[in-house]
Amino acid sequence: MAQVSMTVNGKAVKRSVPDTTLLSEFLREHLRLTGTHVGCDTSQCGACVVHVDGRAVKSCTMLAAGADGASVVTIEGLAKDGALHPMQTAFNDNHGLQCGFCTPGMIMSGVDMVARYKAEGRELTEAAIRHELEGNICRCTGYHNIVKSIQDAAARM
Ligand code: FES
Ligand code: FES
Repeated sequence: MAQVSMTVNGKAVKRSVPDTTLLSEFLREHLRLTGTHVGCDTSQCGACVVHVDGRAVKSCTMLAAGADGASVVTIEGLAKDGALHPMQTAFNDNHGLQCGFCTPGMIMSGVDMVARYKAEGRELTEAAIRHELEGNICRCTGYHNIVKSIQDAAARM
C-alpha cells in the first residue's frame, strides 16, 4: 500500500491505496470525483485529462503515488463560486459537445493549451488547436464545435 497526499481542487486529501492505483482511479473511486472519465485506460482517448501542478495530464497514465505532493485540478474544480470557467461557458455557447463523454478531458486540455500559448505569447490558431487536440478523441461531434469553443474561450480567458 502507498500513503498518498495531494491537494485536489484546493482541498488536502490523504489516502492509503494499493501501489498500482492509477490517478484516474484514485480520483474516481477513492474521492468519488467522477467527472474525470475513463474511456480507454490505454492513454489514447484523453477523457481522463486533469491538471497536475498546472499541466494537462492523462490521469490514466500516472500512478496516484506519482502525484504525491502535487496540486491536482479536475473538471469539478474549474467553476469558481458557482460561476463556470470561461472554457465551460464557451463549450456551452458553441455546442461543443453532444454525449459529453469526452467533454471533461476536452475542457481540461483546452484550458491548458490556452494558458500555455498565452504564457508563451504564441497565437493559438485553429490549426494549433487541432494539433493540440490530437490526444483527445470525440466520438460524436466531428470536432468543429470543439475547436470553435476553444477559440471562443481563448478570447474570454
Ligand atoms: S482513459 Fe486515459 S487516455 Fe483514455
Ligand atoms: S461529445 Fe460524445 S464523445 Fe465527444
